[in-house]
Amino acid sequence: MQRIAIFASGSGSNARKIMEHFAHSEVAQVALVVSNRRKAGVLKIADEHGIDRTVVSRSAFNDAQFLQSLAQQKIDFIVLAGFLWLIPTYLVQAFERRMVNIHPALLPQYGGAGMYGMNVHRAVKAADEKQSGITIHYVNEHYDEGQIIFQATCDLTPEDTPETIQQKVLKLEHQHFAPVIEELLMSKK
Ligand code: GAR
Repeated sequence: MQRIAIFASGSGSNARKIMEHFAHSEVAQVALVVSNRRKAGVLKIADEHGIDRTVVSRSAFNDAQFLQSLAQQKIDFIVLAGFLWLIPTYLVQAFERRMVNIHPALLPQYGGAGMYGMNVHRAVKAADEKQSGITIHYVNEHYDEGQIIFQATCDLTPEDTPETIQQKVLKLEHQHFAPVIEELLMSKK
């Protein structure tokens, strides 16, 4: 059984889907939730599922000692689900090809520092794109630049607003993120 840590900063709707997906899995379990925000909704969701959770300060997160808390929990795989801090080099190296992120657009477009959440959807709308979508990728030291694993697209119409684009994209995230993680974990067994 592989042990997943989810890192999340926000409401945690993707984290919830992943917890539900693996609740009765024989492949993996969500063992830990890490957040940088004490008030993040994802912490409550972890409590509801009886999953250990922790809040990290930026200095603790940027210190390689943090690896010890992941080792104590025997974490095999890290999932970034709306986690907004850049991942420090020590952590990228320790979890090379064992850490994935989801991005709410079709990378390599609309990625990079500051491109998160509604900022992404506003930029997609401003460019009058005909499509948007999701990208699941390995994590490296740069925002949104790791190797792409999976993408899915949705069509946009001129009537779409940043909010409706967000809804379309979130639907794709909820549909695909957990199954893609499961496939990756099965291929690593
Ligand atoms: C998701 O849409 C995810 O793609 C995005 O944050 C949202 C978190 O929603 N991540 C980024 O923008 C990373 N650059 P959630 O808390 O409801 O899962």
